Parts: sequence; structure tokens; C-alpha cells
Amino acid sequence: MTTEIIELTKENSPATSRTEQLALDVLMGFTSHPKYIPPIHFYDAKGSQIFQKIMSAKDYYLTECELEIIKTHGKSMISGFDKNQKLQVIELGAGDGYKTKHLIEAVLDSNIDTTYYPIDISKQALEDLSERFSKFFPDLDIQCLQGEYFQSLKWLRAQPTCQRLVLFLGSNIGNFRRPQAEVFLKTLWNVLQDGDYVLIGADLKKDIDKMLWAYNDREGYTKDFNINLLSRINRELGANIDTSKFQHYGTYNVKLGAMESFLVSLEKQSVQVDALNRKFEFKAFEAIHVESSYKYLCSEMKEMANHAGFSLQNVYYDSKKYFADFFLKVHKKI
Ligand SMILES: C[S@@+](CC[C@H](N)C(=O)[O-])C[C@H]1O[C@@H](n2cnc3c(N)ncnc32)[C@H](O)[C@@H]1O
Repeated sequence: MTTEIIELTKENSPATSRTEQLALDVLMGFTSHPKYIPPIHFYDAKGSQIFQKIMSAKDYYLTECELEIIKTHGKSMISGFDKNQKLQVIELGAGDGYKTKHLIEAVLDSNIDTTYYPIDISKQALEDLSERFSKFFPDLDIQCLQGEYFQSLKWLRAQPTCQRLVLFLGSNIGNFRRPQAEVFLKTLWNVLQDGDYVLIGADLKKDIDKMLWAYNDREGYTKDFNINLLSRINRELGANIDTSKFQHYGTYNVKLGAMESFLVSLEKQSVQVDALNRKFEFKAFEAIHVESSYKYLCSEMKEMANHAGFSLQNVYYDSKKYFADFFLKVHKKI
């Protein structure tokens, strides 16, 4: 049996539903130069399922590396928590919880009274997580929340104080541009209490070919994932995009230190979006930017975390040093 999913309220946006938000973002993105679609729209039900396939792709090293870190160091990560106090584990952008399962196992083994709050924009991801976790951990206190990162922080601020561990795994932080990542970390620090912990997974800068393979996997899952954005616009906004006329292109931007994904229009074409009652023109070989995934040096992540007010407790690496999990503590007392 899966648990009920509570939807967090969305404020300060003229869009009242996810489909309206998609329409607004398509309007903004398709009338900009260069064109773009925000990556949050990847994760409809189909996109979340394709992402699970990406995680299993041979070339997508990120998942295996972070899984190795959590399996190896999960016990050490939770060793500092007080067994006599309740613990809240809050996960932002939890996905299907594939890796978190091993951390929750470690928490439960240590007999700490724990509530797990997976938060994700994708209802499908939360349903999958909830179904799997109810089988693995029938006695776990779990509350799924559907919402966006900054809504989640607002929710977090309103929670009663107890010891807390916030998880932000899977290189989710890499989807923010560097200044946005700094704002996110500072906002997170601000809503947390002195003594709370945060675990952030970041993909490290490395051999460029390794990264190019990961985002152009030979099974073609990343391509399907990106093309699904166009199919989603067709499904939800009544558009007539011929997806065969767009090509996935993943490249590394050395100046920014980020993998970037584009959908490139293979010919001059126009696209009708009924929900917007509007046509958009594409030139031949014009690109739509769909995602950036920023890579970090360990020193860059440490500096950013420090700057936000966290104190670094530990950095956990996989054996190849492709990926790192940064274990941070909130310090507020002067
Ligand atoms: C790259 S996946 C990683 C999932 C998981 N953290 C892991 O490590 O396997 C990103 C997840 O974050 C969710 N997500 C993306 N943007 C989000 C946002 N702005 N707010 C909340 N969730 C978001 C997606 O639905 C997806 O499940």
C-alpha cells in the first residue's frame, strides 16, 4: 500500500497548475534567443520513468558512484545523531529513492525514531518511491510531498524543531547555475536550525569524454528523455511538434564547467501550440537549451558551502573519485 501524497501549495506564480506553468515557460522559452525549456518540465510521469532507465545506463556513472558512497559510508553519515531524539530525514528531489534506501536502512538499524519526507515535483517518482519503500520498510514513518525545491524550503521552515538531515542527492545541485546554487544553499541554511545536517551529492569535474558518454548514453535513454519534453508539450499543450525533426545534442561547456543538453531543429519549421494559440518559428539548426549540469571541483563546493554558513563535516568519495557527497552542518550560534 502506498502512502498519500500531499501537494505543497504554489504561491507567487500566475500559473495555477503544472500544465499552465509549462505553457508559460514554453511561451517564455520559445520567444527567447537562444530558445530554452526549463529542466523542471522533464519530469512528467513518462520523463520520470525514462530517468530511471538513465540511472541504469552503463555510461551514466553518477548513480553507481553515489550508490557506492552511500553503501560504504551510510552508517558513518548517521553516526552523529542522538538516538534519544526524533529524526526527520527530508529529501529534496528524491526521485525513486533508489540510493536513499540504503541510507534509510542504516538509520533504521541504528534504532533512531525517524520520519522520512521525500519531496519531488514528480508525482510518478513519489508513487514509485512510496510503493518500493512500503515493501522494504513496512514500519517506516513516511510522508511524500509533491512540490518544487523552494516551496519545499518554505514548508521546511514551518516544521517543528527536531534533529534533521536534509538530502540533496544525485547531482540535483548541478541543475542550478552557480549563482542560483549559492542562493539555494543560503536559503537552505536560513530555514534550518543550528545543528541540522545536510548531505549534498555533486558530480566532480573529470575527464571530458567520460562526461560526454554519460549524457549521450549508447542506449539512447538521454535522447529519449530530452525528446519526451517535446512530446509532453504535444500531449499537454496540444502542440504539433514533429519530434523526428529534432536531434538531441549533449556537449561540455569548458568555460562554465557544465554538461549542456540541446534539442536541435533539423530544418526550418514552425510549430503550433494550441494552448497558447500561437505559432513558433525555428530556423534550420536552431537549438533549444534544455539542461545544464554543472560539475564541481571539491574546493568549489567546499567554498560555496562555507560561504552559505555550513561547516564541512566530511567529504565522501566513490573509489574512482568521480562523485562526492558533502556532509555539512548548520552553524548559527556566534
Ligand atoms: C536527477 S533526478 C535525481 C533523483 C534522486 N535525487 C537521485 O539521486 O536518484 C532529479 C529529481 O528531482 C526532481 N526535480 C527536478 N527539479 C525539481 C524541482 N525544481 N523541484 C523539486 N523536484 C525537482 C525530479 O522530478 C527528479 O525526480
